[in-house]
Amino acid sequence: IDELLAAGVAGRRVFVRADLNVPLDGTTITDDGRIRAVLPTVKALADAGARVVVASHLGRPKGVPDPAFSLAPAAARLGELLGSAVAFATDTVGDSARETVAGLADGQVAVIENLRFNAGETAKDDVERGTFADQLAELADLYVGDGFGAVHRKHASVFDLPARLPHAAGYLIATEVGVLKKLTEDVERPYVVALGGSKVSDKLAVIDQLLGKADRLLIGGGMLFTFLKAKGYEVGTSLLQEDQLPVVQEYIERAEKNGVELILPVDVLTSTEFPDLKTKAPANPNTVAADAIPADQLGLDIGPETRKLYASKLADAATVFWNGPMGVFEHPDYAEGTKAVAQALIDSPAFTVVGGGDSAAAVRILGFDENAFGHISTGGGASLEYLEGKTLPGLAALEG
Ligand code: 3PG
Repeated sequence: IDELLAAGVAGRRVFVRADLNVPLDGTTITDDGRIRAVLPTVKALADAGARVVVASHLGRPKGVPDPAFSLAPAAARLGELLGSAVAFATDTVGDSARETVAGLADGQVAVIENLRFNAGETAKDDVERGTFADQLAELADLYVGDGFGAVHRKHASVFDLPARLPHAAGYLIATEVGVLKKLTEDVERPYVVALGGSKVSDKLAVIDQLLGKADRLLIGGGMLFTFLKAKGYEVGTSLLQEDQLPVVQEYIERAEKNGVELILPVDVLTSTEFPDLKTKAPANPNTVAADAIPADQLGLDIGPETRKLYASKLADAATVFWNGPMGVFEHPDYAEGTKAVAQALIDSPAFTVVGGGDSAAAVRILGFDENAFGHISTGGGASLEYLEGKTLPGLAALEG
């Protein structure tokens, strides 16, 4: 982007592909981290006199307009953070978008409506995606890719549009890629990775890579129960992905062979039912040993001994990557595991990277100071796929 700015952007229409996919409670944004993350790029362009057209997806609407997924709240928040009015187009490539962009003065910013209100954005078919990209290209003279959270998606605005306009990476993408490169290329050891989240199937590819890279792997979240089961323990009614047991078993064996410490909880918090996340009514969980989960109970967080164990395993790390909450942190009775890992990262002198929409939102929602971490990534799937060593369409397109 610095080259683009140096060449001069005054009066030019610049399409900024951001990731404004923020968590919403109705129309209230519960974590605006992703909007704040794109501010440096938007500000730099606006200050240089560009006419900035910010675009993003939000949620997964079905290719047609759906008010529940409107970007209007995100546009309003962007305006507040910029301290200046932000125009909002109520469609993506229709009359409203064309008129809004045509009405921009130098240095002004507009947001167009959710890109996924148009089926062409996510289409598998190259021609359909290309047609939508052609329409988007009419709105701008230049393209800046800064939606790191979406670079793993081969979508029209991420992959096809940059091929149609002079393009550059924004500040956020440059920062995110710089950090992840550090984790993959010249990582300082011990390199400790804490992985949580609900589904083990989402994490298999990254675990596969990490078994050749990390020194230590700490397992938490819903996926830990598939690991416990693979070790031969009963897990009651806990979340379990039976079909993944053989591969998880293979990983446990490979960790041992490779000298990677694969660490599982020694105790967990359980209950007979999933907690009410709306009322947050007290759940009175039981603390049980990881190899003694009662048949009628499900595990919902790591236990107190595990919190201590994981904190000690993080204490001497030189580099930490953390992805995925350790438990159902949205309920206060099951937030302690996630809090303990967050606190251990804060206390550690290591270079700490929090990857992932969920864990990033968790540290902010739980009230931690985000500046206490080395880096909080705005990309969940994107940072994992980067660590898996995959080619990310949105990054490849910017290099081309
Ligand atoms: C995310 O939240 O990880 C990104 O915004 C991508 O969203 P998606 O998984 O719906 O493509």
